[in-house]
Amino acid sequence: MQLGVCYYPEHWPRERWETDARMMAETGLSRVRIGEFAWSRIEPEPGQFNWQWLDDAVEVLHAAGLGIIMGTPTATPPKWLCDSMPDMVALDRHGRPRGFGSRRHYCFSHAGYREQSARITRAMAERYGAHPGVVSWQTDNEYGCHDTVQSFSTSARDAFRVWLERRYGQIEALNRAWGNVFWSMEYRNFAEVELPNLTVTEANPAHWLAFRRFSSDQVVSFNKAQVAILREHSPGRDITHNAMGFYTGYDHHDLAADLDVLGWDSYPLGFLEQFRFSASDKLEYARQGHPDIAAFHHDLYRGCARDKRWSVLEQQPGPVNWARHNPAPLLGMVGLWTLEAAAHGAEMVSYFRWRQAPFAQEQMHAGLLRPDGAPAPALAEAKDAASKLETLGPIGETCRDVALIFAYDAEWMTQIQPQGEGLSALWALFDFYRALRRLGVNVDIVPPTADLSDYAMVVVPCLPIVPTALAKALEQFQGQIVIGPRTGSRDADFCMPDNLAPGSLSPLLNLTVTRSESLAPGLEHAGDGWAIARWLDHVEGDAEPELTAVDGTVACWRNGKARYLASWPQGALLDEVITRACGDAGIATTPLPEGLRIRRTGNYLFAFNYSAGEIALPDAIEGEVMIGSRTMLPASVTVFVR
Ligand code: GAL
Repeated sequence: MQLGVCYYPEHWPRERWETDARMMAETGLSRVRIGEFAWSRIEPEPGQFNWQWLDDAVEVLHAAGLGIIMGTPTATPPKWLCDSMPDMVALDRHGRPRGFGSRRHYCFSHAGYREQSARITRAMAERYGAHPGVVSWQTDNEYGCHDTVQSFSTSARDAFRVWLERRYGQIEALNRAWGNVFWSMEYRNFAEVELPNLTVTEANPAHWLAFRRFSSDQVVSFNKAQVAILREHSPGRDITHNAMGFYTGYDHHDLAADLDVLGWDSYPLGFLEQFRFSASDKLEYARQGHPDIAAFHHDLYRGCARDKRWSVLEQQPGPVNWARHNPAPLLGMVGLWTLEAAAHGAEMVSYFRWRQAPFAQEQMHAGLLRPDGAPAPALAEAKDAASKLETLGPIGETCRDVALIFAYDAEWMTQIQPQGEGLSALWALFDFYRALRRLGVNVDIVPPTADLSDYAMVVVPCLPIVPTALAKALEQFQGQIVIGPRTGSRDADFCMPDNLAPGSLSPLLNLTVTRSESLAPGLEHAGDGWAIARWLDHVEGDAEPELTAVDGTVACWRNGKARYLASWPQGALLDEVITRACGDAGIATTPLPEGLRIRRTGNYLFAFNYSAGEIALPDAIEGEVMIGSRTMLPASVTVFVR
């Protein structure tokens, strides 16, 4: 695995660049990502390019032996460009334009902006595509960051109509598929269809789902256009893009199909603060990040990536600037996060950023260097990680235990129709992941189309639309299967299947969901140390009740190799179900102490101490210690030879 860093030469005096490049190489970094926000410096006036500074930067970095990841600068269209076509900006859900003065203000559907994106991409690719220092390209930056995938502009509306006509052919087909007879929502032609925002009460969920699919497709086609240009002018270079944490605004399986390497941006402390973690987790892991945050995304994006090639394009090196609270990581965490990415199969970890900027929006965001150019604490950690990675060499293939199946439209559907507060397919996925990892199990997160044959167990946490091929694959699958609630509960257009949920999985599970209810906090059915909470499916059929609450309500049904969890996957009930399923699947489990996580690969077993205290490794974890020790200090890594 390579180490790299995100660098903005345009932020620093020319005289400093050689020093920076030398220090990067001395730290053990071999990759440097540049250029992704530099449009106003590359093309200060329409059509007038100033390449000199970027040519220089490329030479300096290349001369220091660094491989350059060049970004296309389309996340930050300059002022003159926005002024030349003011309708290129996106409109938010309330119809308000997204103003100039930060980034990501463009609308993916604006034809003029698409031309500009192609023009600047081509100019850069022609200039640097054959340069020996340029090893890879990053398209744009974090599609969707700051909630920017959906735009409610007239460009988006017009493109949506074309997209709908292509999908449905006839307006009658759309009316039928969406159930538009309800509330007199029928259209006479595609030109009558509006965007689903600004309706009085909720729009038809089918309308929203179509708009989510359309918006995702717009991102994918925007990206595809850049990829085609880069492939033409820069053959042999990898093309990548940086995805985000807990973000589902577009279909990453679709986007990754056009990339060589899928990247993602790892900010474990910011994500802990911003997302759904309990107040006690937020305190306990404030300086480490929850032990499943980074690993979850490593495993998710490896599953999205073509040929499983993925990397961390931005790694948090210290306090960030954008969460509610921004603590510094415990000393050791930057190194731990780096080795953890290696353990999950990353090709690269690139720190964001080289030097903290004393100006503009991110002045409170740490880098490997302080604003004055002196080393910040993470620099030594990066150097140490580089030497450990060299000691380790290749980590070997990942070991496959459990596959979790996830599709982006599942999360769109639970967002569109949660039915109970906070019920989300993404978080059901995360909760299964966390529960499995606490048992020391290796988990892959894969799309519904994945080959399942190597796994001992498959879990489908929440998948309203079950593709026919997946239903077939599960029928043939030899291992254990766990199906979560709402799976198979809708067709491709958000209507219930004729045979009710679980639709095409009825033969596998031998049951029919006749009624579903969501449960407010405290409205629970207590079982033996667990409870049915948040959601309950009432079921008919010949499946066997496996876990029954004291009042007789069934939490989990079983039909041979397959289980159906009729309650929301959470707490002790979830632990009980997966412990049973792992046992039946013959998967060895090791309940891990709080804060400890492990990962097995062909050559090594990695242990990560995410807690703020020492951990003595359980006896079940064995092997010759290569790095670290059996008594693990806080924020430390121990590696065993297998
Ligand atoms: C990412 C983004 C970077 C930088 C970073 C700060 O979302 O790609 O450009 O803003 O966050 O943490």
